[in-house]
Amino acid sequence: MKIDKVGVVGAGMMGSEIALVMALAGKAVRLTDRDGGLLDKAMAKLGKVLDKGIERGFYQPEDKERALANLTPTSDIKDFSDSDMVIEAVFEDEEVKAEIFRQLDSIVPADCILSSNTSSISITVLSSYVSEARRAKFLGTHFFSPVSRMALVEVIAALDTAPETIDVVMALAEEAGKTPVKVKDVVGFAVNRLIHTFWIEATRLVEEGVATPEDIDTACKLGMGLPIGPFRLMDAVTNNLTLDVQEILHEAYGPRFMPRPLLKQMVKAGYNGRRDGKGWYRYDDKAG
Ligand SMILES: NC(=O)c1ccc[n+]([C@@H]2O[C@H](COP(=O)([O-])OP(=O)(O)OC[C@H]3O[C@@H](n4cnc5c(N)ncnc54)[C@H](O)[C@@H]3O)[C@@H](O)[C@H]2O)c1
Repeated sequence: MKIDKVGVVGAGMMGSEIALVMALAGKAVRLTDRDGGLLDKAMAKLGKVLDKGIERGFYQPEDKERALANLTPTSDIKDFSDSDMVIEAVFEDEEVKAEIFRQLDSIVPADCILSSNTSSISITVLSSYVSEARRAKFLGTHFFSPVSRMALVEVIAALDTAPETIDVVMALAEEAGKTPVKVKDVVGFAVNRLIHTFWIEATRLVEEGVATPEDIDTACKLGMGLPIGPFRLMDAVTNNLTLDVQEILHEAYGPRFMPRPLLKQMVKAGYNGRRDGKGWYRYDDKAG
């Protein structure tokens, strides 16, 4: 099976750029969101991502033309009725995702693949919201932010996912310039388990007064060869999302993922990161 027509549900931070990389790969992409205004914003943002990419030499001007020609925003999910694959990237809320999958299951063709970009909800649990017949075609595709730049996709099989579905989606990810890795359906998959272990220890170092966030970021960049330090990255991801994920990991795996008191305090006090103008760093170009 070859994927030519891709639908993306949710035009937020992740969905919009997933749609972009698929459109750049030559797929006919439809992008929808429950909020029509956000669709316009997403298209404007993607134009800027492409312009910046051209400026930096990642894309050619003809890539921009091709991507925009392949990408159709729509406010009607019924337009997905001829899709080969639909990728869901709505809010991280099981009920919201469940409703989308029930709807998609009744709209898309019988052989259409459905995937979720969830960071923390079990793919097997999400697959239970589609008909038994569809479950062989249901899986997780966990992209990383910003999707236009980050090459990794974790590909996650649910209990009933057919091996062929995994193969087709691994090939699709490669066509889109990504490097897929297969990961078992466990809470946090692989990367989130690794990165939160690291972030929890980094926060503990600050609590103990071992070093400042700035110095730890410098140490990680220069001593570990990382492109960005843990505190700068938490500020980009947002501290509230970091805390939410750590609470989920804590519930699943126990004390080793217990969120640090300092992170909880910062989130409660509104130090959520770059978007809010303050987090581990201050961002004077933003309000707050
Ligand atoms: N932000 C990250 O770094 C990141 C990384 C990997 C995975 N994820 C996962 O990707 C998903 C999306 O995250 P995001 O950061 O893009 O969120 P976001 O809040 O930026 O975007 C979510 C979008 O979904 C739309 N939406 C909500 N309910 C909808 C519905 N019923 N129908 C259609 N659209 C609907 C919202 O209007 C919004 O535009 C989540 O499951 C998240 O856990 C996020």
